[in-house]
Amino acid sequence: MRHPFTSSHSNVVLIRNFTFTAVYILCFVAVNPSLVFSSTTTSLKTLQVHGNFTFERNEFASRDFGNRIHFLPSAVLHPVKVSDIASTIKHVWQMGPDSGLTIAARGHGHSLQGQAQALQGIVINMESLGLQEKMQVYSGKSLPYVDVSAGELWINVLRESLKHGLSPKSWTDYLHLTVGGTLSNAGISGQAFRHGPQISNVYQLEVVTGKGAVVVCSEEKNADLFHAVLGGLGQFGVITRARIPLEPAPKMVKWIRVLYSDFSTFTRDQEHLISAENTFDYIEGLAIVNRTGLVNNWRSSFNPEDPVRASQFVSDGRTLFCLELTKNFNPDEAADVDKEIKSLLSQLNYIPSTLFVTEVSYIDFLDRVHLAEHKLRSKGLWDIPHPWLNLLVPKSKMHVFAEGVFGKIVTDTNNGPVLVYPVNKSKWDNRTSFVTPDEDIFYVVAFLPHAVPSSTGENSLEYLLSVNQRILDFVEEADLGVKQYLPHYKSQEEWQRHFGSRWEVFARRKSDYDPLAILAPGQGIFQNPISVL
Ligand SMILES: Cc1cc2nc3c(=O)[nH]c(=O)nc-3n(C[C@H](O)[C@H](O)[C@H](O)COP(=O)(O)OP(=O)(O)OC[C@H]3O[C@@H](n4cnc5c(N)ncnc54)[C@H](O)[C@@H]3O)c2cc1C
Ligand SMILES: *[C@@H]1O[C@H](CO)[C@@H](O)[C@H](O)[C@H]1NC(C)=O
Ligand SMILES: *[C@@H]1O[C@H](CO)[C@@H](O)[C@H](O)[C@H]1NC(C)=O
Ligand SMILES: *[C@@H]1O[C@H](CO)[C@@H](O)[C@H](O)[C@H]1NC(C)=O
Ligand SMILES: *[C@@H]1O[C@H](CO)[C@@H](O)[C@H](O)[C@H]1NC(C)=O
Repeated sequence: MRHPFTSSHSNVVLIRNFTFTAVYILCFVAVNPSLVFSSTTTSLKTLQVHGNFTFERNEFASRDFGNRIHFLPSAVLHPVKVSDIASTIKHVWQMGPDSGLTIAARGHGHSLQGQAQALQGIVINMESLGLQEKMQVYSGKSLPYVDVSAGELWINVLRESLKHGLSPKSWTDYLHLTVGGTLSNAGISGQAFRHGPQISNVYQLEVVTGKGAVVVCSEEKNADLFHAVLGGLGQFGVITRARIPLEPAPKMVKWIRVLYSDFSTFTRDQEHLISAENTFDYIEGLAIVNRTGLVNNWRSSFNPEDPVRASQFVSDGRTLFCLELTKNFNPDEAADVDKEIKSLLSQLNYIPSTLFVTEVSYIDFLDRVHLAEHKLRSKGLWDIPHPWLNLLVPKSKMHVFAEGVFGKIVTDTNNGPVLVYPVNKSKWDNRTSFVTPDEDIFYVVAFLPHAVPSSTGENSLEYLLSVNQRILDFVEEADLGVKQYLPHYKSQEEWQRHFGSRWEVFARRKSDYDPLAILAPGQGIFQNPISVL
């Protein structure tokens, strides 16, 4: 790959030729008072759309949850119909490679490293489409489903489904994310051991490809595109609608936490539970390293009004492991569910005095992180940098991983939780774009810290980034066969290694569906073909 500043090509090509590094891009922008695209985006003004374009400086479209990368687009499309998206992409496609224009679908912008941004390109505000296109629940069928705009938030999908006594099966821990955004990654939570990730729970999609074609796809129809966009990091098309299977929704959940001091016992119990015939409905876990406070630990949302109960969970210099479980039930089954839980818990080897059971409505459980969001927002701890790192670790390497990382590289978890839980690969479809580790069982390990603004030491962004780098170096040197989730790499070589034997298919799909590399430039995987001439 050529260095961007030594290229003899035009400015347009230079932009496409950036070597994935923010620094280069920022330098580039600084030395080029670049209105390179003014003429190209001006042509958008002639496009007939039902929604509208905005061309003024748009800070919103250059922000995400990671809060570290800020690329300004030249234009933002607020679509109200799928045809708005199709005609915009087709317009850019017909301009050919010289335009250098890129397009990023922006769901709820909860990416970590600018993945939903498009430097001087066009950002499509997918939530605008979500506002217009009504959700439709089909409840009368033997296999009920919901048809939903990809710009819709999962919390709204849940609310609408519940009106019919139904619910999707597989979730993320946080529901203020769009359908299109999580399906472009995977959508993993404590239900994935049983139902697979969200990308394993889709009947049908409507997609606008990188050539502006609107294509309906499923297992039966246009299956290659269907599988490509699931976990496809936005590379092959903009998902505009999804058909999501539903099941009868429970009213309540029993929410259970128990603690372990021994990692082997913890993982043995987790692995037992995800494989058992009769088991819980949700299985996750946390590593707790020298935790001093609890409110910070928003994802686990211990009840701060209950300090006595909470105090026993302070880890006090030690590393502890918390198993988190739920069992769904309806009020008339309360007695039975208690019996069932008792029997399931009797198979486990947690520290007996640490059992903590509570009961909440199904929606309150699923939307639990939103409550924590309110608390953090009120303290100014939400719109701050989030140097998150998500890894998938093969089961056989989990002990080496834990020994090297918990308590050694990660010396406390006061800045945000560390999730640890296993899933079974048989629930993941290897025809999708998603790559898993090469083992039947692998662990989701999510480091989810926030950097406290203008702090130094262990709360600073620099320190937390250095911890992440040490973790990545460790898994690399120990050759643990780890894959990143919500992956981020700086070069195409690294992307190729990430995909491994699946790279060829991934690249072939790119040339089939988005040959000009117009879509999702923020992922930094492909460049406009002209830039590598
Ligand atoms: C607080 C929080 C909790 C989270 N919890 C979980 C969790 O439990 N499990 C989990 O799996 N993930 C979790 N995530 C990660 C989350 O799933 C991803 O960041 C997801 O991309 C966010 O959705 P979004 O709508 O904000 O997407 P965006 O950030 O807007 O977009 C993500 C990527 O997908 C592309 N994209 C967006 N919409 C479309 C579309 N319609 N068609 C094609 N491409 C599109 C974008 O261009 C971008 O490249 C969490 C994130 C946060 C911030
Ligand atoms: C553009 O569309 C958005 C979303 O539909 C809408 O909120 C906004 O008012 C529109 N702006 C103009 C100038 O029409
Ligand atoms: C994973 O799931 C498959 C298919 O259901 C099953 O055969 C296998 O035993 C499971 N593996 C473990 C370790 O539970
Ligand atoms: C745990 O945290 C406390 C307070 O931050 C610190 O003083 C102590 O050294 C830490 N213990 C370990 C084992 O890291
Ligand atoms: C996907 O999994 C199936 C069944 O395990 C296997 O036969 C096939 O070779 C795998 N395909 C790829 C591309 O890995």
